[in-house]
Order: sequence, then structure tokens, then C-alpha cells
Amino acid sequence: MVGAVMAPPSSPLRFEPQPRAARDAFGRAMTYLRISLTDRCNFRCVYCMPALGMKFQPRDELLTDDELVRVVRLCAKTGFTKLRLTGGEPTIRPRIVELVRAMKATPGIEELSMTTNGLLLNRLADPLAGAGLDRVNISIDTLDPDKFKLMTRGGRLDLVWQGIEAADAAGLRPIKLNTVVMRGQNDAEVGEMAALTLANAWQVRFLEIMPLEGVGAVHDEGLVTSEETQERLEARFGPLTPVEVPPGDPARVWRIPGAVGTVGFISPVSAPFCAACNRVRLTADGKLRLCLLRPDEVDLRDLMRAGADDAALELQMRAGIWRKPWGHGLAEGERETVRGMSQIGG
Ligand code: 5AD
Ligand code: SF4
Repeated sequence: MVGAVMAPPSSPLRFEPQPRAARDAFGRAMTYLRISLTDRCNFRCVYCMPALGMKFQPRDELLTDDELVRVVRLCAKTGFTKLRLTGGEPTIRPRIVELVRAMKATPGIEELSMTTNGLLLNRLADPLAGAGLDRVNISIDTLDPDKFKLMTRGGRLDLVWQGIEAADAAGLRPIKLNTVVMRGQNDAEVGEMAALTLANAWQVRFLEIMPLEGVGAVHDEGLVTSEETQERLEARFGPLTPVEVPPGDPARVWRIPGAVGTVGFISPVSAPFCAACNRVRLTADGKLRLCLLRPDEVDLRDLMRAGADDAALELQMRAGIWRKPWGHGLAEGERETVRGMSQIGG
């Protein structure tokens, strides 16, 4: 009909995400980048760092803010839509709020989250939320202040708890709490952790400890499988009901009958989720790490510092993603003996 209102044609200048995300040779699309902002941390968790001899990288080996934002822009162009900031401890990175703002403002980035130990969230939750951070995962292994001090080698539970409350109040939801279950340390307390979900809309996630560099022996002595943790929870709360999760979520999620929140199990050792993997990692020193526990990396930092242009970087990224290893092989006894969790970024 003449005069009918027609939708305006979309502007040729509008950002259009890549029609197809970069895929690996197994057909898995990579849409999720985990970025380690620093290998340093204000805690020394027993399952993450050795008691002595932890070596940190010199600052000039870490990516600068500009380099980080450049990699994020290129990743967005290559089809990545989700970012997670990790560490070490991401909140101790100088200018973290500005970094969050710049990353979230990158066209194509739809979701920006962070994994943190929560210690500085009391102060940072509001400014981070204001800068565009969508949500946080907070590591907390026990509700007993003395055990917390032992497991983090000196951390204060009351400050972390304030951080969790500040994150909730700032709307960094849904809040997920990560608990690495360790035999003889916090395994008897998983019920207390899970009970937090009765009245809070949180997800408490129980992680199997992985044998990364520096904590191989801790893993051998401390591993508690998700199956065992679930049995403990069901002995206390009765049968859990399964909850559907989006594909690519490594957690298997359940609800305690009547609970507001949910509990999740992440089982890299007993039930790897490699088949549904949608992620690669950026180490603090600027390597695109293709699989959590495999040494194959693309050295984006050295390429950038040698003057590579965007097209060359994108090509190297896509080529790296194409050869992404099938899986970490933890179930077959593989272990990482070069990089620790705080360097790879969890
Ligand atoms: N195994 C499993 N999870 C670990 N984390 C740190 N070290 C290990 C390990 N060896 C977890 C922390 C944090 C996330 C980044 O990784 O609890 O929540
Ligand atoms: Fe720090 Fe997280 Fe490692 Fe603990 S697990 S030492 S909080 S990086």
C-alpha cells in the first residue's frame, strides 16, 4: 500500500557481528574468552599456588591495557561475545574499572564477567558494575574463618563475605560461589556451603581440584569427586532436582528441594566437558591458550610487539583456534607441569 510505513534500512555503519564464529577442526565454535589480567594474587590458596617458590612474571611481560583492549576488539571481530576476567586476582590490576569499561564498550561483546576472590569487592563492586561488569563468580571454600585462613594461607573470611554482599547489592547477579572441595580440609563442610542456596538466589558450585603446576601432590591427596560431594549433599538434604543449563556451561546444576538458589558440580577430572567447549584463554603474558591443560599457545603479545597488523593477528588467532586440542585429558591422567592456575586463569 502506498504510504505504508517501511522499516528504515539498517545503516551500513552499524556493527554487524561476524556471521560465523571461529571454529576449531572439531566444529566447536569459540565464543568465550577468559582473560587472565595478572598472575599475582592477594591470597595463596593451597590448591592454586605452592607454599614456597611461587614466581611471578615481570610487569613488562604482561599485556598492557592497550594490548588487552586490542585483543578483545579482535576477538569480538572473530565472533567472541563473552569475556571473563580472571587472574591471579583480577581486581588487583591497576585501572581495573577503566579496563572493564573499555572491554564492555567493545562492539560485539555482549557479556562481561569476572572470577575473583572477593577480597576487594566491598570497595569495587559498585564502580565495576557502573563500568559495565555484568556478574561475578567468587571463590569461597569454607564458612569457617580459621579454615578459610588455612586454605587461602592468610585470607580473612569476613572481608570476603562483605565483598559477596557488596556484589549482590551492586546487582552483579546471578552470583556464583566457587568451592574447591578438598579431602580433610573442607569436604565435611559442603553441606554448610550448599545451605547458602536455601535462602539466597546464588549458585554454589563445587569444583574438583585439578593437578596444575605446583599443586600436583595437593591434587593427589585432596581430590574429592563430584559424585562424592553430591552423595554428601543428598544424605543431608534428600535427592536434588536437576536444573537445565545453557550449552557450554561446565556445571551440572541441581536444586535442593525448596531452595531459592542452586548447586552446581564442575568435574574436570571425573566428567570433562571438553566436547561442548566454547572457550579459549588469554594468559596474563598475552598467549592465546587453546586448552586449559595443553601447552599449545599463540603468542599474541610477541606478534603485537613485533608490529603485526590486525589482519595478521586475526589470522594467527583463527589458525590457533582451528588447531585447538580436543581436550585436556585429565581423566586419562594428564597434568600440567609448566603453568599454574594463576597464570592460565582458571
Ligand atoms: N583446581 C580446580 N580449581 C581451581 N581453582 C584454582 N586452582 C584450582 C585447581 N587446582 C579455582 C578457584 C577459582 C577459579 C579461578 O579456579 O577456586 O574459583
Ligand atoms: Fe588467588 Fe584465586 Fe589462586 Fe586463590 S585460587 S591464590 S584467590 S588466584
